[in-house]
Amino acid sequence: MQVKVVIGTIAFMLTMIVLGYAALREPERLEHFTGAREGRTIETGANIYFNNCATCHGMEAKAEECYDAAGNSITCQGLPLNNYFLVCGDAPARLEQTRFEGTKEQFVERTIAAGRSGTVMPPWSSTYGGPMRDDQVKNVAAFVLNFENEELCAQEPVSFPWPDSVDDFLSMDMSEFTAVSGDAENGAALYQSYGCNSCHGDVAEAGSNQIGPWLGDIATVGATRVEGQTALQYVYHSILYPNDFIAPDCAAGPCAGPPSAMAQDLAFRMSASPQDMVDILAYLVGN
Ligand code: HEC
Ligand code: HEC
Repeated sequence: MQVKVVIGTIAFMLTMIVLGYAALREPERLEHFTGAREGRTIETGANIYFNNCATCHGMEAKAEECYDAAGNSITCQGLPLNNYFLVCGDAPARLEQTRFEGTKEQFVERTIAAGRSGTVMPPWSSTYGGPMRDDQVKNVAAFVLNFENEELCAQEPVSFPWPDSVDDFLSMDMSEFTAVSGDAENGAALYQSYGCNSCHGDVAEAGSNQIGPWLGDIATVGATRVEGQTALQYVYHSILYPNDFIAPDCAAGPCAGPPSAMAQDLAFRMSASPQDMVDILAYLVGN
């Protein structure tokens, strides 16, 4: 009888210990579970990224190192996503620049879902005619947002200190800012990847322009635009500060300004690689 009581008591105590332990572990277990689920979401997103996005946004999502389906190195057409100004902090600069009102999570998810009209960034969600389900869009958005980490976000990167004068710019030591050296041929590729051609048309074909003036003759007419500015200075300044002078072709019509109908974020985008400016100037004006 007494033995039974003792065994009963021990069994009861053991049960309590096991239950108590399990209860104590529960939050940890749950956290592990959510962590694993987030991990899986990001992993799925990574697969989607490499299969659909890396051709334009790059292997490390820095808009460097892009390859076509056959594995040939090509010019990256997209913006850097592994980018301080897109993913770090609660209100990254990209939101303000694009006048987006909402969180960065919404910004990234909506851009992926709906694409950017007027650019080569296509819509991905089936809601907008794209190939993906909304959970796939969410997964790849989670992958992009996961670039926010201590190393990337520790310090705001310096944006390039564009000098006012193109001569000062071209004589700068850019080794600190740039890894690639380029030329007019690369400038031709950049003219496409920055989307200059979608407004200004093909420089080899007068009349192929859409929203902006045709730039095939800018090396000569550029010198006549603003008193005291060479064509080189004028083109450089036009890219950095589109609103300062509106091209005569736009005096009336759909591209009248200011503000200029030209893309306003080129100086910011070229800060990541000022060499791009050098190459575009070489392509349009020769330098
Ligand atoms: C055909 C090339 C191309 C492909 C493929 C592509 N993108 Fe883009 N993406 C772009 C371009 C170009 C832009 C910038 C558009 C602009 O000028 O506003 C962009 C912009 C973005 C932005 C906003 C970045 C910012 O700073 O404003 C996000 C986020 C993005 N893409 C994610 C993706 C994801 C995720 C995929 C794959 C599912 C993808 N893109 C596939 C070309 C591409
Ligand atoms: C969204 C359309 C758009 C994009 C993209 C764009 N531009 Fe423009 N650009 C314009 C418009 C519109 C004007 C005329 C208004 C003005 O002078 O600001 C213009 C003006 C210019 C001028 C002065 C032209 C003249 O006849 O005086 C130059 C040079 C120029 N852009 C270069 C570029 C380069 C280089 C790129 C790419 C790196 C680029 N633009 C991208 C729309 C665009």
